[in-house]
Amino acid sequence: MKDRIVFMTGATSGLGKVAACHIANKGAKLIVLVRNTQKGKQLLVDYKKLYPEGKGAIELVEGNLNSFESIIRACQCIKDKYAHLDMIINNAGIMNFSLTETVDGIEETLQVNLLAPILISHLLFDLLVKSKASKIINTASGLHQGIINFDNLEFKKGFSSFKSYRQSKLGLILLGRLLAKELESDKIKVYSQHPGMVRTELGRSAGWLSKAIFWLMGKSPEKGAQTLIYLAETVDASLVSGEYYANKKVTKITPESYDLNVAQQLLDVVQQYLEPYIKQSSPIFDIKEKPTI
Ligand SMILES: NC(=O)c1ccc[n+]([C@@H]2O[C@H](COP(=O)([O-])OP(=O)(O)OC[C@H]3O[C@@H](n4cnc5c(N)ncnc54)[C@H](OP(=O)(O)O)[C@@H]3O)[C@@H](O)[C@H]2O)c1
Repeated sequence: MKDRIVFMTGATSGLGKVAACHIANKGAKLIVLVRNTQKGKQLLVDYKKLYPEGKGAIELVEGNLNSFESIIRACQCIKDKYAHLDMIINNAGIMNFSLTETVDGIEETLQVNLLAPILISHLLFDLLVKSKASKIINTASGLHQGIINFDNLEFKKGFSSFKSYRQSKLGLILLGRLLAKELESDKIKVYSQHPGMVRTELGRSAGWLSKAIFWLMGKSPEKGAQTLIYLAETVDASLVSGEYYANKKVTKITPESYDLNVAQQLLDVVQQYLEPYIKQSSPIFDIKEKPTI
């Protein structure tokens, strides 16, 4: 990890915080997106406490995945400062127990868990290209069963926390596979990962019973961070781009998660959501030149 420049979301809590400190300790320059400055500062304090001799550094950039404008500002800050990026870790995620809308008026699970990581990967793609070898790691979940509900993507008609969460993670896995295929002959690799059931703040908006079950059955964040750390540290030649990893291994999952036709259909819908924010092409979104009048 020495001198690798890594951008990461979801590093202020849970398994992401453990992975972030580990990756920085190995010598990476870690840029962390934070929506809560206090938690960002606490991350810096905890990193120093955990690894006083840590070889790398953590830097904070403000941003909230709840707002596309905020994501754009954060990505612009990174582009203003860095000429290349070696890794993007899209780890932030939520599970809501009631229908909530973002600043952009979109169901929050869809935006934070799916639209935001795709927009980030698109906006920072030109920095990944400038690295000798780069990768995108998306934190998905073992909860990804079912289908993409194209008719009711935001679950605004009959909200279900599990259905919206599962759909967002299935979408992330599908688009990861599609992007990996697009980049087949490229040096940029894409991976999805499942951390297992982990004792974190993910169920913060759940009732006490669900929280208790989560807490009793979940493994420690230290254990939950292991697959993410493995993917970040392992050379790409030993990994399979586009694949879904659990327990540090490629894992076979539901047939729906391999359907690249559905992935393409989903990408088209995602592009419609993100259209106003896409100014240039990348392997994720190929936009046609707008004719000048
Ligand atoms: N825990 C599990 O059992 C489990 C299982 C499978 C997959 N996962 C996935 O693992 C990832 C990490 O979750 P976790 O379990 O460690 O939960 P967590 O403790 O709740 O951490 C979530 C992280 O995402 C950040 N985040 C959430 N919404 C955001 C927003 N709008 N803008 C910016 N950052 C935002 C949080 O920031 P704050 O610190 O500011 O809240 C936090 O750093 C998620 O993608 C989750 O879906 C978890």
